[in-house]
Amino acid sequence: MSTVYKSLIISPNPDKSIKTYNPGYMAISDNGKIEEIREENLHNKYKGYEFVDLSNYLIIPGLIDIHNHLPQYAFAGIGDKELLPWLENYTFPREKTFENKEIARESAKIFFSDLLKNGTTTSVTYVTIHKNAADIAFQEAEKAGIRAVIGKVNMDQNSPEFLTENTEKSINETKELAEKWHGKENRLFYVVTPRFAVSCSLDLMQELGKIAQKSDYFIQSHLSENRGEIDFVKKLFPESQSYTDVYEKAGLLGPKTIMAHCIHCNEEETEILAKTRTIIAHCPTSNRFLKSGIMPLRKYLEKGLRIGLGTDVAGGYSLSMFNEMKEAIENSKYYQVFVDKKTEPITPAEAFYLATLGGAEVLGFENETGSLEKGKNADLVVVDYKKTDPENGEGLYNEPEQILSRLIYRGGEQSIKEVYIKGQKVVKFA
Ligand code: GUN
Ligand code: FE
Repeated sequence: MSTVYKSLIISPNPDKSIKTYNPGYMAISDNGKIEEIREENLHNKYKGYEFVDLSNYLIIPGLIDIHNHLPQYAFAGIGDKELLPWLENYTFPREKTFENKEIARESAKIFFSDLLKNGTTTSVTYVTIHKNAADIAFQEAEKAGIRAVIGKVNMDQNSPEFLTENTEKSINETKELAEKWHGKENRLFYVVTPRFAVSCSLDLMQELGKIAQKSDYFIQSHLSENRGEIDFVKKLFPESQSYTDVYEKAGLLGPKTIMAHCIHCNEEETEILAKTRTIIAHCPTSNRFLKSGIMPLRKYLEKGLRIGLGTDVAGGYSLSMFNEMKEAIENSKYYQVFVDKKTEPITPAEAFYLATLGGAEVLGFENETGSLEKGKNADLVVVDYKKTDPENGEGLYNEPEQILSRLIYRGGEQSIKEVYIKGQKVVKFA
């Protein structure tokens, strides 16, 4: 159904500022693309289109979470340990349960449904080592309508016996899943997923790197998250210069590789990330929850590193990208106060960019999604923004930057009215 919407609209610009239409008119064709967006009344121009007046609402682009773990959602908000004991005590026992297909399916349904309810229209997601569970995750993402990049986890060493794979089987199952799903409907993609250097042999990592490169799949892993983890990697790979060097030698870095965290990387390591154009998934909520540290976001941005935001559920306790934007700002303030007075914190507009267009750009989806512009898909979130305002939109604080800032700090699932992907309504609250 082709539609013209009238609403306050806020969309990010490539220079990390925001563009506001107040009110804006957005024409969406029946193939789900934005045909036109402007402040002029398009109601008469697009005859035959349904006219939907959302004057009391705000439309923003769908949010993009570039790092999360589907099976871990069940224990979000629980966990009192740092990374390695947290994996042993919480993550691995839970991930074992995904050998059961019913559990895997029920969890996937809840996970994608809750992502959409939180306004996340693009997700990059880890499942478990189980091929069936990853296949089921793709099936449920397909049904939910979400844009998703999904991978079966690979791990063949230093893991509990029940999660340790045979290397060859791990590789073969990865190939089968990737061939089946990568590029489906131009909405579902495969991401090769060696969990981290601790749990993957060099042989496994090298072979996965080759597979990804040959077929242009995404790659994702974890890098330099926790001091204990870094020490462990040093012991496992004594001939390597650094943690980042391990991945570079294994052939895993590049413009389609997403490395989560990268908190404690030294100068040489960030040089490698810059040179290879590797993507960093910044997960500030998780970084505090697991006491991993504070990533120098401003420094990395100034260095030109490619960065998106990730919830890292359940290292992070929430699927809300509003929460993640807030934590990105707060962590960058903390970094200025306690680590380096010369680094400026990021602004709400910059956080908004990272959670939308920035995420789309690093994933190479910027022609499809991430901002509201002619020719892109109508991936959008309708927000009841006045609910975030103590004075219900009637007070003095209604500049676009103020509306956005309040939404980041005070918004969440409760302030979302509807969510659309490719113009199709995927969530509607009462
Ligand atoms: N490093 C290896 N596996 C994981 C995981 O599941 N979560 C986080 N936060 N870090 C990891
Ligand atoms: Fe993670």
